[in-house]
Amino acid sequence: MKDQIILGLSGGVDSLVAAVSLKMEYNDALHCVFIDTGLMRKNEVEEIKHLAAEHHLNLTVIDAKERFLSNLKGITDPEEKRKIIGREFINVFKEAAKEIPNCKYLAQGTIKSDIEESKKGDGFVKSHHNVGGLPQELGFKLIEPLRELTKDEVRKIGLKLGLKKEFVYRQPFPGPGLAVRILGEITEEKLNIAKESDYILQEFLRKNKIKPFQSFTVVLDSKSTGVKDGKRNYAYVVAVRIIDSVDARTGKVTYFNKKLTELASQIVKEVPGVSRVVYDITGKPPGTIEWE
Ligand code: XMP
Repeated sequence: MKDQIILGLSGGVDSLVAAVSLKMEYNDALHCVFIDTGLMRKNEVEEIKHLAAEHHLNLTVIDAKERFLSNLKGITDPEEKRKIIGREFINVFKEAAKEIPNCKYLAQGTIKSDIEESKKGDGFVKSHHNVGGLPQELGFKLIEPLRELTKDEVRKIGLKLGLKKEFVYRQPFPGPGLAVRILGEITEEKLNIAKESDYILQEFLRKNKIKPFQSFTVVLDSKSTGVKDGKRNYAYVVAVRIIDSVDARTGKVTYFNKKLTELASQIVKEVPGVSRVVYDITGKPPGTIEWE
């Protein structure tokens, strides 16, 4: 049996471009793994399955929702959430790798800026890339086909390989997923609010042809009183974040429009457990892009 390769798909462009290009060379020796943490956006798992099928990738989706959510139960501190998610990610990935006989190589979609950011020793940026970072301690040889390339070059290659434009230019999404967009403890109810409200926001942006660098909703850990269907509605507050940036190091809030009040009404109306929507007007600095 030929040596086998394992590659973790994150749902982002870099790992998919790495997978599709390696597939051309190594074909069935390439095994892609996607860990469903339960903290992904609405429809994300279906989308990744669809993309993998489209590009004939051999994909295993590991349903680790229960595992992640039970480990996160009662945890409110953002850094602790990140640590737990990073640790579980590695555990689940290690188990998946053991299932592949003769697996000798680990392939990653590392790009030039990932390497540069790590070199600078900037703890914060580095910790971003380590979350979901794959376990080299398994003793695998590393394959990083994109390590000399910039994001822009990776996108161009993605288009050449036939990936859809919307996918190639999709917004960055943090490794810990919705966990850092739900303040306080992560519960099923808050997860549902995060997924559904974000879905409505993305539809709103699509319809209005607004293409920000990043956009998402945040579920606060506080409740507020409102009115829904003629009754008192004491429920969660959701924040909408629409921010423009070039490289995520700084960011500006440039979208201000009355249409946002329609968006707020739609979210309250359609998402159970929400009473109020606020708009985040904080740039970076003084804010960060994510709330946690
Ligand atoms: P901040 O919040 O630091 O975010 O202004 C800058 C960029 O990094 C993303 N981000 C993360 N990405 N793991 C990641 O992989 C993380 O823990 C993480 N935290 C923030 C954020 O979405 C933005 O694009």
